[in-house]
Amino acid sequence: MILIICADPLNPRQPDSAFAAEAEAATRAGFTLALLTYERLVHDQDAAGALGRLPPRATPEACLYRGWMLRVDRYTALYDALAARGYQLLQTPAAYRSCHELPAAYPSIRDHTPATVWLPREAGLGLEQIMAALRPFGAQPVLVKDYVKSRKHEWAEACFIPSAADRDAVARVTGRFLELQGDELQGGLVFRAFEPLRTAGTHPQSGMPLAIEYRAVIFDRRPLCVAPYWEGAIAAAPPDLAPFADVIAGIPSRFFTLDLAQRADGRWRIIELGDGQVAGLPPGVGVDTFYVALSRGISG
Ligand SMILES: Nc1ncnc2c1ncn2[C@@H]1O[C@H](COP(=O)(O)OP(=O)(O)O)[C@@H](O)[C@H]1O
Ligand SMILES: [Mg+2]
Repeated sequence: MILIICADPLNPRQPDSAFAAEAEAATRAGFTLALLTYERLVHDQDAAGALGRLPPRATPEACLYRGWMLRVDRYTALYDALAARGYQLLQTPAAYRSCHELPAAYPSIRDHTPATVWLPREAGLGLEQIMAALRPFGAQPVLVKDYVKSRKHEWAEACFIPSAADRDAVARVTGRFLELQGDELQGGLVFRAFEPLRTAGTHPQSGMPLAIEYRAVIFDRRPLCVAPYWEGAIAAAPPDLAPFADVIAGIPSRFFTLDLAQRADGRWRIIELGDGQVAGLPPGVGVDTFYVALSRGISG
């Protein structure tokens, strides 16, 4: 199996330092590495150039990507450029989108995740539209994010809205969120009912509540690992995935992350999904453990 990893922008023959330990572990686990110049793919919109001298294959060769998050259009460009050279990414662009963007993921997780509404950027993101979208939440607290990410580390300023009915608070927090996201805004705005979670204090730098949250990495419906998302925020017992088996089976992706947080009432809730190729590994999971599990998952 070929693993496409982001290259160091200054030295395209080396993995990006952020992925160097993963690259070494992947090699030890039997993957063959290929390097991708992220800047060529994303900033120059040159997917073929981003693959450098990756040799063309006569028979299709399966591959996976591990690297920085990509917008769906850039992922599609990568998928197509690889296919043109005889490489088949295991995740189709539709599979990638199904976990990367919350509105795409929502139908698969609806019954197990906080109530969610969204406003596409093209619909206009004016305060009138936002207040209309927020009506179902009444005066409940909500969180704002875009289709992919929140500004959780700017919790009070750009993430948490104490009441969805408080026009000033909605305008202030959403306005600050949009200002901070700038051109990086993905898709549009997403608002979610805030559900009180068990926490282990607050983040020392940002003041965000540290939820008891676990990340499961799933390949072909089976977990490769399940581990705390925040060091030190540990549950009395880790989440049992058995009650989520049907949800997992219904997610149209082979390789994804499932983030589960424990509510104050003890129930585990899905916070979000992510594509397995661009998700960070939970802090306690060693890279060798992960790549050995991934390699086994791929060979079935
Ligand atoms: N609906 C919610 N209710 C309560 N806390 C939430 C809710 N959604 C997210 N959180 C908390 O906020 C954090 C960031 O939200 P998340 O959707 O995971 O954003 P990001 O994509 O930036 O990681 C989560 O790790 C969780 O602790
Ligand atoms: Mg998250």
